[in-house]
Amino acid sequence: MRPKDLKAPFDFKEKERIPLIQEGVFYIPSYAQDGQTFVFPSLKTLFKNSYPIYIECCSGNGEWAIEKAQTYPQINWITIEMRFNRVRKIYSKRFNLQIKNLFIVCGRAEIFIKKYLLSNCIDAFYVNFPDPWPKRKHEKYRLIQKPFIQELSRVMKPRKIFHLVSDAFQYIKQIEKEMGEIQNFKKWDIEKPFGNHYGNSYFERLWLSKKRKIYSLTYLNDKNL
Ligand SMILES: C[S@@+](CC[C@H](N)C(=O)[O-])C[C@H]1O[C@@H](n2cnc3c(N)ncnc32)[C@H](O)[C@@H]1O
Repeated sequence: MRPKDLKAPFDFKEKERIPLIQEGVFYIPSYAQDGQTFVFPSLKTLFKNSYPIYIECCSGNGEWAIEKAQTYPQINWITIEMRFNRVRKIYSKRFNLQIKNLFIVCGRAEIFIKKYLLSNCIDAFYVNFPDPWPKRKHEKYRLIQKPFIQELSRVMKPRKIFHLVSDAFQYIKQIEKEMGEIQNFKKWDIEKPFGNHYGNSYFERLWLSKKRKIYSLTYLNDKNL
């Protein structure tokens, strides 16, 4: 199939959109959130097994997560991307490669995590090249800020890894500062996620081709249950 073969489950212009799961994609409308109840199934029900759950958010066309889901079939992967035209690309790759262990969320990561995930259910969390919002007046739109980090801490199981990659030095500095203010998270340079093959993505190639420096941060969620 091709990306455009995935049809939207609702008209994106309609205000009456409701959250729904269709063909392994969870659609979260970007407004009218409050007052809408949707009972998100347990992750065990969703994947029909109890394998560990790894999340990648801001997945773009899904290249990184697709490769990971193929390489690690005994991990359940959740990919979160807010733009439908990119979700279509993830969906078509998943369909064509017959990947069964990847669930797609089409919506904002902060909403999915806050509204639909129980505490202590995630085994690893990755963010590859989140939108950097480099201008000072746009910094407020950055995803990785304190409220998000607090939710991250809640949904992750104890002593699991959060890993982020970005070319945006100022954003990296801000994240380091804010992670440092949340007691649970400890910088964790001991483990390199996925050893020598972390994985590739479109934006990684793009920034490397422009000779941009790439930074990565790893944290251990050192909390107690
Ligand atoms: C710079 S791209 C990186 C894509 C991919 N990770 C890569 O490395 O090629 C950032 C992506 O994050 C998505 N995004 C931005 N904010 C988001 C949010 N709050 N929730 C989910 N996705 C988001 C954008 O739509 C975009 O596709």
